[in-house]
Amino acid sequence: MITQKIDKKTIRYLRYLKDVFGNKIMLKKDLFTNKLEEYKREIENCKKCQLGNNRKNFVFGDGNANADIMFIGEAPGATEDETGITFVGRAGKLLDKLLMDINLSRDDIFIANVLKCRPPRNRDPLPDEIATCEPYLHKQISLIKPKVIIALGRIAGKTLIKKELSLGSMRGNIYKYQNVDLYVTYHPAAILRNPNWKESITSDFKMIANKYL
Ligand code: URA
Repeated sequence: MITQKIDKKTIRYLRYLKDVFGNKIMLKKDLFTNKLEEYKREIENCKKCQLGNNRKNFVFGDGNANADIMFIGEAPGATEDETGITFVGRAGKLLDKLLMDINLSRDDIFIANVLKCRPPRNRDPLPDEIATCEPYLHKQISLIKPKVIIALGRIAGKTLIKKELSLGSMRGNIYKYQNVDLYVTYHPAAILRNPNWKESITSDFKMIANKYL
């Protein structure tokens, strides 16, 4: 079912395709989805760094392959390693609630991490792991083509910006990553530790959604 608003010219084109190909027409949207799926299959057995040998699951990223907003976290945690799905632990549940507060769901966004495999005991990503894994993120961005990227937390932010900065100094600025506008805000796990920051992350999400959606 198509739920997006489609202009008349597109409807005429879709009718034409339907006349020619019957009900088996493939929309551009499906093609994009397939490309991302194909890319997942291409890289999901990666063993280019040490993390590949210890993971339970490669955590590619989840959500809408055509999303305008892409969230980027640091690396999978225990629950994500267990399930192969991004942000499904306590921090992920909070992220779902924060998205609901701005009338979005996982189906509206894409979410991935800088690293696709869990570092032991959730330690910070090492420079050689980032260097090995970051090209995967670049390719994901080039396929999804988001309008804006939101880095969740200091580690994801400083990794994408390539500067040792505090969260406070990154938050509120617009950076560029792979030519896409990039914002940095709190990691949901930080909100679990300090609920006073919930208002700030919510206002960041609202401001970004109003500007880009
Ligand atoms: N924290 C992250 O940065 N990424 C996840 O996928 C889960 C928790």
